[in-house]
Amino acid sequence: MAESTTCLVTGGAGFIGSAVSAGLLERFGKVVALDSLLGQVHSTGERPAELAADVELVVADIRDADVWDRLLHRVRPDTVVHLAAETGTGQSLRTSTLHTSANVVGTSEMLDAFVRNDTLPARLVLASSRAVYGEGAWRRRSDGQVFYPGQRSVAALEAAQWDFPYAEPLPMDAASVEPNPVSVYAVTKLAQELLLRVWGQSFAVPVAAVRLQNVYGPGQSLSNPYTGIMSLFCRIARQGKPIPLYEDGLVRRDFVIIDDVARALLAVIDTEAADGQTIDIGSGQVQTIGDAARAIADHYHAPPPVVTGQYRLGDVRHAWADPSRAEAILGFRAHCALAEGVARLATWIENQPDVPSV
Ligand SMILES: NC(=O)c1ccc[n+]([C@@H]2O[C@H](COP(=O)([O-])OP(=O)(O)OC[C@H]3O[C@@H](n4cnc5c(N)ncnc54)[C@H](O)[C@@H]3O)[C@@H](O)[C@H]2O)c1
Repeated sequence: MAESTTCLVTGGAGFIGSAVSAGLLERFGKVVALDSLLGQVHSTGERPAELAADVELVVADIRDADVWDRLLHRVRPDTVVHLAAETGTGQSLRTSTLHTSANVVGTSEMLDAFVRNDTLPARLVLASSRAVYGEGAWRRRSDGQVFYPGQRSVAALEAAQWDFPYAEPLPMDAASVEPNPVSVYAVTKLAQELLLRVWGQSFAVPVAAVRLQNVYGPGQSLSNPYTGIMSLFCRIARQGKPIPLYEDGLVRRDFVIIDDVARALLAVIDTEAADGQTIDIGSGQVQTIGDAARAIADHYHAPPPVVTGQYRLGDVRHAWADPSRAEAILGFRAHCALAEGVARLATWIENQPDVPSV
């Protein structure tokens, strides 16, 4: 990229924004992070140590039209990486206005500002989520038929009927699995995708979207009670407590470490063929939450995890990405196995000045 190019990263001081910041500085002459430093994520309200020093941080809310006008008056971004969001899946069911306002209105304010200030970027990159799939697609064992079971009912969850009987879940792949959100957060992430696509097509601005699986690792907020299950499990285990497992402990997830996600996002930046695509990003592996918790408990020599039978509304039963399109389009393949990722996360946690107890 030329020295004169500028990248604007909304939510750029967050977990993922900070992790990509050094790589973006290698690619752009100027990198600007627009971030409100949400209290739930940034407990000290200070610039995160993980955000590269040469990134200009503008502390402001993406819903504020005046903020956009002032910023775009002096900064004309060539590439925009849109990360700013309220990210609490379960939380979003009780704070739907907060989530729709930040994630949907925040996105539309950004788009309006580009038009109003005549600063259309050359490209937009969106961090979307595997949450858009909801429970995803399942295949019936009897006849091989693929179906969309939709949201699990409260009655089924109360009866501890966690899975859909006689069927197997399929991996998540934007090319073959339709979105089917089951949380307000997921609805807002799908709305972000649709807003950017429709707007981008109208103004000839290419959009690339990545649907990220569960990202974890060094730099994730330790104070946010609504996200970061791996950090939470580490904090429980390091206190010598058993990790509680929701449902039957057999919920399946795809935990992808932050370094791999940063590489994937930078690959999107580097790959023109990603424009117009929606690409699933995961670790290439699937584990049960119970297995992940046991790996963490073993690391800390903590007691084994305990199945509680509790459940959380908005959570889906199984989620993992089909990695093949990320490999085909981006040449991306995740490197880090879970045990190594847990060790890296645990080391980072031990070096933090303040680890909230649980
Ligand atoms: N971490 C994951 O597991 C994961 C998975 C799928 C998708 N994503 C998506 O990736 C993106 C980044 O997530 P993250 O994990 O870095 O989360 P994060 O909470 O660490 O970062 C989000 C950043 O956005 C900022 N922000 C929130 N609302 C804002 C607003 N109204 N104005 C300005 N800034 C605001 C926050 O202060 C925070 O720094 C989000 O869009 C999220 O939906 C994350």
